[in-house]
Amino acid sequence: EDGHPVLLESFLDGPEVSLFCLVDGETVVPLLPAQDHKRVGDGDRGPNTGGMGAYTPLGWLPEGMVERIVDEVCRPVAREMVASGCPFSGLLYAGLAITSRGPEVVEFNCRFGDPETQAVLARLTSSLPELLHAAATGRLAEAPEPTWSEQCAVDVVIAAPGYPGTVTTGGTITGIETAEELDDVHVLHAGTGTTERGELIAVGGRVLSVVALGATLEAARERAYEAVERINLEGAQYRTDIAQAASEGSVGSVGSAASADGAE
Ligand code: GLY
Repeated sequence: EDGHPVLLESFLDGPEVSLFCLVDGETVVPLLPAQDHKRVGDGDRGPNTGGMGAYTPLGWLPEGMVERIVDEVCRPVAREMVASGCPFSGLLYAGLAITSRGPEVVEFNCRFGDPETQAVLARLTSSLPELLHAAATGRLAEAPEPTWSEQCAVDVVIAAPGYPGTVTTGGTITGIETAEELDDVHVLHAGTGTTERGELIAVGGRVLSVVALGATLEAARERAYEAVERINLEGAQYRTDIAQAASEGSVGSVGSAASADGAE
């Protein structure tokens, strides 16, 4: 009444999920759901970041939840875009919380998410370019469904000192080749550059993503962290608990209304 704006927000009482969908008009093809770890520190402590690590599969997600999210969230959005004369073609990123009321949207992006994509695409066994091309040329409905490895994927972000505040750049990075000698490990560059002498250095906040596959989340975690330990960057930061709660079966409670059919 005094003219001060008040913003009321829903309390989202459940774990977050990222679901990327390829969209071509009303055709929606979901990729695998993944979970990001947004805070800089273990146990979700410290400031928010772009994402410090991710994993898939989400064993704790109720069966049928992806179909429910597609039916209740992504497909209605795609239909509405068509109905409003602005059909969407591309990647729809739904950031959701799986609350006691069911899936609720936190955000949408029209792009892949980082670092979830590193984990999701590590499990893709069919062709991503073909899928993207089909979406871009209006043929997504006829394209073969993407196929996925049964393996679990974990990726751990190595960030520069100071991230997500003022970052110290210029640190020399070594050990990537040794890390990639491990089976089913690869290292993706984000904030890296080279000096005139050809040395690899950190030039941004999130510097590297270390991605590992394993038969279980625990195996993928072990491999990812063994690889992280082989990489040197002075003052580097990384979380040590990526996918830990999921591998221990202790991800925050998912309410009864979050079941696949939405029944309370
Ligand atoms: N992982 C969060 C984002 O890509 O926005």
